Amino acid sequence: MTLLYPHAIMQPDVMSPGSLVKGMDSLAQVDREVSVCTDCSLFQNRSRAVPGEGPEKAEVMLIGEAPGLNEDKQGRPFVGAAGHFLEGLLASIGLRREDVYITNTVKCRPLNNRDPLPGEMAACRKYLDRQIELISPRVIVTLGRHSMVAFLPKETITKAHGRARSVNGVTLFPMFHPAAALHQQSLRKVIEEDIKKLPALLQELSPSRKEGAGEQLSMF
Ligand code: URA
Ligand code: SF4
Repeated sequence: MTLLYPHAIMQPDVMSPGSLVKGMDSLAQVDREVSVCTDCSLFQNRSRAVPGEGPEKAEVMLIGEAPGLNEDKQGRPFVGAAGHFLEGLLASIGLRREDVYITNTVKCRPLNNRDPLPGEMAACRKYLDRQIELISPRVIVTLGRHSMVAFLPKETITKAHGRARSVNGVTLFPMFHPAAALHQQSLRKVIEEDIKKLPALLQELSPSRKEGAGEQLSMF
């Protein structure tokens, strides 16, 4: 067989997202595409896109809302005050930032930190879905309402926080947004308590205990 475009098979860079061959995608490839993406109007005001960071083998994936000012400057998620608070929360359960994958529902900063619009979240969703597919985390922790409704459109965060559930084969664990918790004492206590449930949940979901567990999460 003669290949018309042999170079296109060797170099993922030259492929369009729609032509991705299964097994050839990578987090680095997603990063590259995000960094030059113009698929929604948020690209116009960004300094740097913020694709996300963390190990491909992460068991925990954290999904925030959108990059803020510091994130936009550095091209890294959760590097401001909320990020500092988040690192403290992770440390309280023995996790370091480098142990988890951290990203957002949209990869470019909305001006004045306004909420991301549904159309922007929809345009950016393909990158999030590829990251989830590549990392295949044991648990997805959604941070804040916007991130939660991307997976659980009918839920309210006041009801759903701190309880794990399985959706389409993925375990979701909604929490309040660290930025909100940082400034509101009552939420701060709640988020500090919620994250403490994560180690037991990970334990319950560990491969050795998965068999026969079905979709039932007995502890939550
Ligand atoms: N808040 C978010 O939701 N994401 C970030 O990356 C930083 C702050
Ligand atoms: Fe592209 Fe997402 Fe940035 Fe919009 S927010 S320009 S869809 S990377």
